[in-house]
Amino acid sequence: MTSIGKSLPHDSAHGHVTGTAAYIDDLTPLADELFVDFVGAPIAAGHLRSIDATVALGMEGVVAVLTHRDLPGTKRLFGPIFHDEPFLVADEISYIGQPIVVVAATSRKVAHAAVKAIKLECEATTPILTIDDAIRLGSYLGPRRKIERGDLDAAFATAPHQFTGVLESNGQEQFYFESQACIAIPGEDGSVRVHSSTQNPTETQAVVAEALGIGMHQVVCECKRMGGGFGGKETQSAIPAVMAALVAIKTKRSARVIYGKDQDMICTGKRHPYKTKYRAAFDDDGRILAVDVELHSNGGAFADLSTSVMERSMLHMDNAYYLPAVRIVGQACKMNYPPNTAFRGFGGPQGVIVIESILQRIAQQLSKDAVDVRRLNTYRDGDDLANTTPYGQLVKDHMIVETIDQLVATSDYHNRVATINSHNVTSRLTVKGIALSAIKFGISFTSKFLNQGNALVNVYTDGTVQVSTGGTEMGQGLNTKIRQLVADQFGIDTDQVLLMTTSTEKNNNTSPTAASAGTDLNGQAAIVACEQIRGAMTRFASEKLFLGGNDQPPSVDHICFLDGFVFDDRNSAKKIAFSAFCDLARRDRVDLGGRGFYATPGVDFNRETGQGTPFFYFTTGAAIAEVTIDRFTGEMTVDRVDLLMDVGKMINPGIDIGQIIGGFVQGMGWCTNEELVYDSTGKLLSTSPTTYKIPNVTDIPAVFNVATIDNPKHVINVSRSKAVGEPPLMLGICVWLAAKDAIWRLCAGEPVQMPLPATAEANLACIASRLMPCHPPAPLAPGHARERGRG
Ligand code: MTE
Ligand code: MOS
Repeated sequence: MTSIGKSLPHDSAHGHVTGTAAYIDDLTPLADELFVDFVGAPIAAGHLRSIDATVALGMEGVVAVLTHRDLPGTKRLFGPIFHDEPFLVADEISYIGQPIVVVAATSRKVAHAAVKAIKLECEATTPILTIDDAIRLGSYLGPRRKIERGDLDAAFATAPHQFTGVLESNGQEQFYFESQACIAIPGEDGSVRVHSSTQNPTETQAVVAEALGIGMHQVVCECKRMGGGFGGKETQSAIPAVMAALVAIKTKRSARVIYGKDQDMICTGKRHPYKTKYRAAFDDDGRILAVDVELHSNGGAFADLSTSVMERSMLHMDNAYYLPAVRIVGQACKMNYPPNTAFRGFGGPQGVIVIESILQRIAQQLSKDAVDVRRLNTYRDGDDLANTTPYGQLVKDHMIVETIDQLVATSDYHNRVATINSHNVTSRLTVKGIALSAIKFGISFTSKFLNQGNALVNVYTDGTVQVSTGGTEMGQGLNTKIRQLVADQFGIDTDQVLLMTTSTEKNNNTSPTAASAGTDLNGQAAIVACEQIRGAMTRFASEKLFLGGNDQPPSVDHICFLDGFVFDDRNSAKKIAFSAFCDLARRDRVDLGGRGFYATPGVDFNRETGQGTPFFYFTTGAAIAEVTIDRFTGEMTVDRVDLLMDVGKMINPGIDIGQIIGGFVQGMGWCTNEELVYDSTGKLLSTSPTTYKIPNVTDIPAVFNVATIDNPKHVINVSRSKAVGEPPLMLGICVWLAAKDAIWRLCAGEPVQMPLPATAEANLACIASRLMPCHPPAPLAPGHARERGRG
């Protein structure tokens, strides 16, 4: 019996609920450990003139105060794509919270006090805080990119209908529960070991080595688990690691950096806010004829992953729909905020929301059902142009149409639309809306070289197995899925298999655990390692074990590993326990270790031409949300969500459904409640859960039907599974569309301009503007303040 397809609990579930699963700050301090904190820039733009640390240096317990001058390496800049970000400020200040001075002290309390005692003299310049200003000043990160197909001008010249619009989407804080954290322990001869809460041990290793001016071989980066990453620890775990390692090297003592929540929210990057101009042409039926979009993102102060994130936005502008003539232009802007970075969906949401918004507006303009309009434009399954993305990849072996049809049926969509309409006529208190949105999410890193993984598998003489991969566990269940895959390879119980701490010592040159491809890459690499070991095992078994006695010729093809036993399938009576077998094999000098390597086949994309096959396959789905909005407060409740996804053959359905629910709710948060508020100097005001509202348990839809659809056409990828981590986040968009739908139904005719997030305030403003068409207010007599909230 295989464990693949079983809903085994997460391998740390017991640890998560009993508090025994250790995160970085749970690790027992070494005797001489120092606590590290830093002084961040007080202004968003300007120059650092002087640092006065006299008072701090005189405080008892302060061991070191370090600046960029103390960095031993020759390199001063780092970054995952462009090397443009300083480890520590030397002169130019680029965002509020940017690390300037590193302080090490014998206790947390002293470190915090020392940070407060350090005086900076800075000269402020005017920060760039809006995308419009960045465009006006030509402040950009990376090149302007374009993907094009068809004759756009001709399509717009002849189209029966068209409109233009602008869509702005807010950023989003990753809100991992474990803040950025790292412990660095100095080793012999200038080496260092860092325990980092990171999705990217290899990059952490490389950046630490660069900052310290040592070889990568002198740095080991380990990550047991993260208390959430959500993309926020793909690159941004590097700075805390550099600070800890710098202190460790300078003081020869171990060093601990643990960001406070507010500090983390102030000084680390988030989801990119976007401003997108669009133009769409369509026919009388609602069929899209042409789409022309120009996306600008707020990339923050340094490039980080912004160009890659923008690329994914551009590659998801079509989402699940065929766009015959299309032009997609994308440009990341350099602005004075922390460098924005990966966040679940990685730019996908910002692209998907534009086309979903366009489709809804088409339906409203033509007074058609929005689901019918979507279905009309959906990719079918064929090898013609109508199933080809703007970047030239064929969309095949999918179930998008079936998914929408099944969802419409099981959710009783059409009857509910009728009920909603009658509710809206009778209720004077609330208004209801309903909307469907779909997702087609490309799986693979769009940088081809990242699509690789390696794994180390050690089988011991008692039949137990240790597995190490480059994949990191952040709660998503990667370790549990790999455990199931490996147990299946040897026909043993999952209890016999353990996933070990991720470490660059065991797995080198690894990719970040990101792009939802953790299991695809590392799970397949682990299988390759198991196959090597099984190859040696079956040779040994056929040559030495099942010979003699039963007259059968040795044949490796007949050796089975099943239910904890090894046997020749022609004579299963003569079976040997896997543990005894491993012991015998070792005595016969059989190698019981393997290192597997896997590279995703077939993916390729040309950035210059904007054409290629960037994705190995697509994870797809759709969801329908029904919401109720209070007409007098704008407060919204999500009454019901029906969600259906094709996530292939699930290795662990319990974990995958958990990812779907969590992803959807996180997407809903982006669209509805999570509002980053800055003051006019670029300072973040919403820096904690009291002012920044992530969804809580009571925000989960009252009725939430989650199902998966079987896809017999999907035969590739590890164990025929599909990546699940990010795609469901984008289905949360249907809640935002439902809010717009509700307000549109209040007073149909005009399209609804709804900001993102659709907070209660935004909903109320939207309702007010529709119910009380604004006549320009009469001029006030001088000295009279206008009452707020009246239009
Ligand atoms: N689930 C949990 N519980 N915690 C996380 O931090 N990160 C998401 C997703 N699901 C995350 C999560 C993101 S951004 C990605 S890319 C994937 O998990 C990464 O893991 P995978 O590739 O193993 O799916
Ligand atoms: Mo996920 S945003 O790819 O870390």
